[in-house]
Formats: sequence, C-alpha cells, structure tokens
Amino acid sequence: MKYMTTVDLPKVPNGLHGQLAVPGDKSISHRSVMLGAISKGTTVVDHFLLSDDCLHTIGAFRQLGVNIQIENDQVTIEGKGGFNHFTQPDQPLDMGNSGTSTRLLLGFLSKQPFDIEMFGDASLSKRPLDRVINPLSKMGANISATDNNFLPLTLHANNQLNAIDYKLPVASAQVKSSLIWAGLQADGKTHLTEKLITRDHTEKMIDQFGGHLDQDDVNITVTPQDQFKAQHVDVPGDISSAAFFLIAAACVPGSEITLKQVGLNQTRDGILQALDKMGAQYTISNESNDSEPAGDITIGYQSLTAINVEAAEIPAVVDEVPLIVLAATQAKGTTIISGAEELRVKETDRIATVTEELIKMGADITPKSDGFVINGGTKLHTASEPLDSHGDHRIGMMLAVANLIAGGDSLLDNADSISVSYPQFFEDLKQLS
Ligand code: S3P
Repeated sequence: MKYMTTVDLPKVPNGLHGQLAVPGDKSISHRSVMLGAISKGTTVVDHFLLSDDCLHTIGAFRQLGVNIQIENDQVTIEGKGGFNHFTQPDQPLDMGNSGTSTRLLLGFLSKQPFDIEMFGDASLSKRPLDRVINPLSKMGANISATDNNFLPLTLHANNQLNAIDYKLPVASAQVKSSLIWAGLQADGKTHLTEKLITRDHTEKMIDQFGGHLDQDDVNITVTPQDQFKAQHVDVPGDISSAAFFLIAAACVPGSEITLKQVGLNQTRDGILQALDKMGAQYTISNESNDSEPAGDITIGYQSLTAINVEAAEIPAVVDEVPLIVLAATQAKGTTIISGAEELRVKETDRIATVTEELIKMGADITPKSDGFVINGGTKLHTASEPLDSHGDHRIGMMLAVANLIAGGDSLLDNADSISVSYPQFFEDLKQLS
C-alpha cells in the first residue's frame, strides 16, 4: 500500500476533555485469531481491533480455509481443532505492513503439508526476518526468503519440527511467540530463554484457551499440544493507542481525560512507568482482570521532569518511545533514552524519523545509535514544511499529538498510514476536543 494523503492536523485550543474507549489491543487481536483458528469450537472476540494489520491476519486465515465473520468490532472464528486442518492458500498470503502477522505466522505455519508464499509492503519487506527464520530452521522449518532475511518468502511443506533449547538474541515478543507456536508442534519440549521479559499475551491466551506453558522469569518451556478450547475473548483497549492521548492530555494545557478499559498488562505498561518517573499524577479506577488486566485511566495537564530510560525498561514501552521523546521535549531537564536500538528496525527507523520530524517543530534532540538525548522545555511550533509519517502509523499519530502541543497548523504527509493500528484516530481525537 502507498500512503499518500496529506491532512491539516487538528488543534485543541481548550485542551482535551471527556471520556474515550480506545480500540482493542492490536497484539491481543492478532493472537485471538490464531488461537481461535486452532481451537475446537467457535471463538467470539469482542472489541477486536479492525485495523489494517489485524485484517491481514484475518485475511491469511481465511485463505487457509478458516471461516471468520466480522460484525462491527465482533469477530467470530470457526476453529479447525488443531494445526493440521488448514487448506493450501491458492494465492500468496499478503502481510501488508504487519510484522506481527509475518513473524508469528512463520512459526505457526512452519509444519504444514503444503507450500505457503508470503509477501508484504515495501516497509515490511525491509524488516529483518532472520531473527525467526534462523531458530525455526534449526527446528526443521524449510523457509526460502530473499537473502534468508526478507519478504517475499516461501514456507515449504514440512512434516517435522524438532524441539530446541534457544536463547533469544533480541528482546522480541514476536520472535518468542513465533517459537512458542512452533514449539507447540515440535517432537519434544522446547526451552526458550528471553533476553528480557517481553509482552506475554501469547502465553496468557494459551492459558485462557486451556493450554499450558511452564514459565519462570525469562525461561519458558513449551510442551507439544494442539487441544485448545474455543473461548470468548474481550479485548482490552490498546495501551499503545491510549498512550497518544495520555501524553497529549499531560502536555496540552487545560486537559483532563479518562480513557476507559485500557489494557494494563505489566509487560506493556511502560508508558505509565515513564509517566511515574516524570512525576506525573494519574488515577486508575474500575480495574478488571479477566485473562488480561484493564482499567480506566484519568490524567490531566501537568508539569513533567526529565528521565533516563534504559535497556531493561524498553520492552514494556517499545512502541511508545516516540511519545516519551515528545513528552521529554516538554519536560524540565535532559532526558536520555538508551538500549532502544530495536527502534531502528520498526515500521521505520524510528530513531531517525522521530528526530527528523520533531526537529522541524523546534525540538532539541540528538539521535544516538541506540536512543536519544532530548533537552526539554521547548516551545514547539508549526512546522514550516509538512510533517511526514514516513508511512509509519505511530510516527503519524505522535506528530498529530506534537501539533496539539504546539497549538500549530502543521500538515501531515502520508497520514493514512495511521489506519495500520488506529483507523478512527482523528475521530476519537475529535471526541476529546
Ligand atoms: C508485538 C511485539 C513488538 C511490538 C509490535 C507488536 C507483538 O515487536 O513492537 O508492535 O504483538 O508481539 P517486537 O517483537 O519486534 O519487539
């Protein structure tokens, strides 16, 4: 897909106000389709995120012969009762811009009796896959990818996966989840050791669907199993989407908002920990804890102080680092973010794109190989040339928040990339205006 649209970014002269339920969590929505597809029975998923990325996962499973119905934000999946009842897609699977679909499906589909081709858009075709192809190949998967590393690729027919002991060289929930899916289909116990604890939605959902993994800190043991029972999944609001409004409310004078039923999984709540460190006040109410914890977050405008963010803290906030950089431009003092080199291989090189774009608005940011140094207390201004999402949804939304803080009239190029994770972002922002 090419992202072409240029938009006038909105303003909120009186700050942000009111309540909003942000759309469902992207990571959990993807996984609900995958577990639903291999379970016995009909899985119903409420508050599913109907964004481009998750629709690519649904599209792939439909091509594999799974019956999936969508009505409003409810998705119904007729489970196949195991990994071995799919039909061969008659077209290559289109992964769009979705790294999660690609990496998770590589492990999930690594033991099928037929070849499967996959392709993606220009940005996804530049993102590294050796991090999953190498360990999956050790397990016996047969994948031929461009330069052994990139889409397009072919996952060849395969009837054997061997269990492995594997230490993940990167802190990545996508890699971990891919290897968990493969481990469930292997010939023995697979032992995985994470570099750092990453989001655990796959593990939690396997448990919800009646499966079992053994976990101890960074160690996970996967025992082969494919008897999962269909479930009702209620997807909490995506904390990565809520984060745009949390930072907007904290940084735009006069704001006070409540975000309803936001996912509060501890492996994902790094944006709240960063706000705590910056001295921010917010309240959490109406907490619930089904298979994933959630609650309402209320936050208003306040002053922030600079922080240090280090490698160990990155996984819980990996998608929100661009917003921490933005908040840091408004904070008192110098913020240093390190150990965030994974940002270089996201939908764009986010260390480069965040720096390039916020500098257009007057921010004082120095990019580092693994992070940023940000001198705070900057009055951001309208960019004299259009801002650019560079086709990266999270950069587009972060820049929209930057324009709210500037109270400016900036334009945003390639704005439609936002539909990758948050198609109704501008409507929801209007609801809070
Ligand atoms: C995701 C894991 C993270 C995150 C991505 C979604 C997931 O990627 O950035 O948006 O759903 O597992 P990495 O595994 O590359 O860190």
